[in-house]
Amino acid sequence: MAPMAGACPASLAIAVAQAGGLGGCGALLMRPEAIRAWAAEVRSNTNGGFQLNLWIPDPPPHRDATNETLVRTFLSKWGPDVPPEAGDASPVDFVAQCEAILDAGPAIVSSIMGLYPEAFVARLKERGIKWFANVTTVAEARAAVDAGADAVVAQGMEAGGHRGAFDADKAGEALVGLFALLPAVVDAVGHRVPVVATGGIADARGIAAALILGASAVQIGTGLLRTPEAKLATAWADAIGAAQPEDTVPTRAFSGRLGRSIATAYVRAANGADAPHYVLYKSDEMAYFQNQGANAMQDLTNPIFNDVDAARAHLEALRWPHGPECPHCSSTSERIIRVEGTKKTHRKGLYYCNGCKGQFTVTVGTVLEQSHVPLNKWLLAFYLMCGSKKGISAHQLHRSLKVSYKTAWFMGHRIREAMRAGGLTEPMGGNGGIVEADETYFGKVENPRTVRTDGKPFKRGGGKGPANKRAVLSLVERDGEVRSFHIARADKETVTEIVNKNVSREARLMTDESRLYGGLQVASHERVRHAAKEYARGDVSTNLVEGYFSVFKRGMKGVYQHCSEKHLHRYLAEFDFRFNNRVSKGVHDTERTERALIKIEGKRLTYRRTDEAQDA
Ligand SMILES: Cc1cc2nc3c(=O)[nH]c(=O)nc-3n(C[C@H](O)[C@H](O)[C@H](O)COP(=O)(O)O)c2cc1C
Ligand SMILES: [Zn+2]
Repeated sequence: MAPMAGACPASLAIAVAQAGGLGGCGALLMRPEAIRAWAAEVRSNTNGGFQLNLWIPDPPPHRDATNETLVRTFLSKWGPDVPPEAGDASPVDFVAQCEAILDAGPAIVSSIMGLYPEAFVARLKERGIKWFANVTTVAEARAAVDAGADAVVAQGMEAGGHRGAFDADKAGEALVGLFALLPAVVDAVGHRVPVVATGGIADARGIAAALILGASAVQIGTGLLRTPEAKLATAWADAIGAAQPEDTVPTRAFSGRLGRSIATAYVRAANGADAPHYVLYKSDEMAYFQNQGANAMQDLTNPIFNDVDAARAHLEALRWPHGPECPHCSSTSERIIRVEGTKKTHRKGLYYCNGCKGQFTVTVGTVLEQSHVPLNKWLLAFYLMCGSKKGISAHQLHRSLKVSYKTAWFMGHRIREAMRAGGLTEPMGGNGGIVEADETYFGKVENPRTVRTDGKPFKRGGGKGPANKRAVLSLVERDGEVRSFHIARADKETVTEIVNKNVSREARLMTDESRLYGGLQVASHERVRHAAKEYARGDVSTNLVEGYFSVFKRGMKGVYQHCSEKHLHRYLAEFDFRFNNRVSKGVHDTERTERALIKIEGKRLTYRRTDEAQDA
């Protein structure tokens, strides 16, 4: 059974398994809880073997208001009006789906549209789960096997549903039919892994032909959609039954990605020359995304990390995409002249502003101002800190950058300052969104309390229980951002104030059974009962915020070790920033670094400004 997002109820996988095949699930659109429930149902009705499948996410689309309006107008001719917010829809959190898949413990995990990140592949291997990678070209097959795939699924252009090309833009270029692709893939990688054939196979003749061409197995997709267990609407199942091969066409009409569909009136209109086009992907970004692993290594040899002039040019391009802007009076490029080079004594990268007769460089008015550390080392420090999931210690920075330990320490804090979210922020969970809240305790407070809030002495002596640990409260919007707070006291009053200030009244709040949460101004407040071993009930859970805490704690214990209480909020800003710019949101190391670099502006550390400036 081919995994088919939106068309693979447990009943179908169970029927396939009972008939001797392997059931599968395209989990693209499923929340983690739904994935777990699907797996449980299939497991209890079969011998327990099944396949779970995910799409490797694309980077977030480039929004273009004009284009979106055209698309909405076009769609409205074929159904109800499409509201502007429809464009804000975001996919289910990929990392959470990956975790749910590991929890479900399938025999096989498969991928389409790209390759799983290395770390996830390692976790699959640890658990003995086999990875099947869907490929549409010989080159993709080679890349998949090199990345550790245990089998490849060669998908011909006949396949129903979306085409699994790694590069969405090129999906229409290499439209190879299965019986040309299959033997070529078998020749290229068949001596290393089994090859599964898929696309246009729906009966025994197709299976026999694929086996003769070297396939070890086949996957059937569309052919199974007509079975009662697929629970498809009768009209759709009948349309599939009546369709001849030439009644289907490749189209981007459903998602912007290329796929094969029955040529309905809508599809024909959407494929028409005057239909608006979805502009979802930018090819350079796709290439970057696909080569993430390789790029990360190349990046360290990038001149911006080794050459101060290249670093300055990079930072200028990031800060001033439309040419230099005066940090004193905001004059723009036409009033600004480059003075560097006109006299020997001029600093590199110096500009003169005709608006205010002042001078500036790219670091004026930023956390990098007055630093004597060369800009290329700054960029490398930003990159290392943005690219390490659990952070990077001042000792490590000191060794990697060849700066003094003290300087490295100050650099780390300036970078955290850049990462800090600034200014006013919207309340979380507007429009009925879900916000998870939880607290965690970490490290001892500097002045432990000796008595409890109720005035009685602690039973186990001061300094042990949570009361004398540093408390952190985090709020996470499902599929969205996290906000963390170091709170002096984990009591109801403090928690209530923070939640009411940061969470929308329209939000659904989810917490555990802790008594810290109560009487809050939210649309609903649901609790999971951890004491009763309940971790999720429907979509009620605190798994996302707990996932955040686990990274935070591993980082604080493993990397930072000693962090004084007064700096804890800075480390929280760092972990928040990385979480909010995480891979599952389509943000990889280089882009995450750039986002931090853009935030250097308008922020100056206020504590020990002067000595610190000399140190870093
Ligand atoms: C409705 C539908 C949804 C699909 N969704 C997925 C998916 O989520 N993941 C995936 O790897 N393949 C998906 N596919 C592709 C199938 O796995 C398989 O490649 C294709 O169906 C094989 O061609 P056939 O439909 O001619 O049998 C989907 C196919 C269909 C028809
Ligand atoms: Zn000026």
